[in-house]
Amino acid sequence: MESSLHFLITAGPTREAIDPVRFISNRSSGKMGFAIARAAAAAGHRVTLIAGPVALPTPTGVTRHDVVTAAEMFQAVISLITDPAAPVDVAIMTAAVADYRPVQASIQKIKKTEGQCQLTLERTRDILGSLRTEGSYRGVLVGFAAETENVLTHAVDKLHRKGCDLMVANDVSQPGSGFDAEDNEVTLIFADGTMRPRPRLAKAAIADDVVQAAVALHAARS
Ligand code: CTP
Repeated sequence: MESSLHFLITAGPTREAIDPVRFISNRSSGKMGFAIARAAAAAGHRVTLIAGPVALPTPTGVTRHDVVTAAEMFQAVISLITDPAAPVDVAIMTAAVADYRPVQASIQKIKKTEGQCQLTLERTRDILGSLRTEGSYRGVLVGFAAETENVLTHAVDKLHRKGCDLMVANDVSQPGSGFDAEDNEVTLIFADGTMRPRPRLAKAAIADDVVQAAVALHAARS
């Protein structure tokens, strides 16, 4: 039995302001990430959770940092992952981070006019994809791939592109599974090419699987 590890988990959506009353976001509820945080804490691990705007209680024993934007989430994750005082052993990035944000949020509420309105967007930083490079992170790295087509092909590509040990792939086109749902149906894809398809399960059961797989990956390298 391995001793207690430090888990760093991101969860939920991010929000990118258009003006003081509007934002770009997505349908992520944060339930998967919070379930993983709960499972890791219940297994006796130290857990730091970076949460976007969600309506969920903090699981018992979890240290939570709330953020709003992708830039805030990036800063929070990089500063925690490079903190020598509390080295991270397992990083699990479940957040549905906005890939684009308005180039400039309007200070005043945008008034409607006749005809079309155009928003100019710029890319946000890829948090998961920066951990091995900018974060110089060497611990176990787990990503989530929410896809609507060619699920496994896209997930395998993301696993290698982002330097992950494990990618949890799910088909979010299935009704009742994935985004903002109680259940999920995932395939665990490991860097050595092993694929472990799981049946449709409650997010709490998938969380236990993911935590156990991450702990096993940690044990295998040390
Ligand atoms: N991710 C992240 N930072 C981003 C975008 C994604 O950390 N700016 C992480 C997610 O938390 C997830 C993984 O990357 O673990 C995959 O996210 P996904 O949105 O499926 O992938 P993208 O890299 O955005 O790829 P694409 O838009 O091509 O599907």
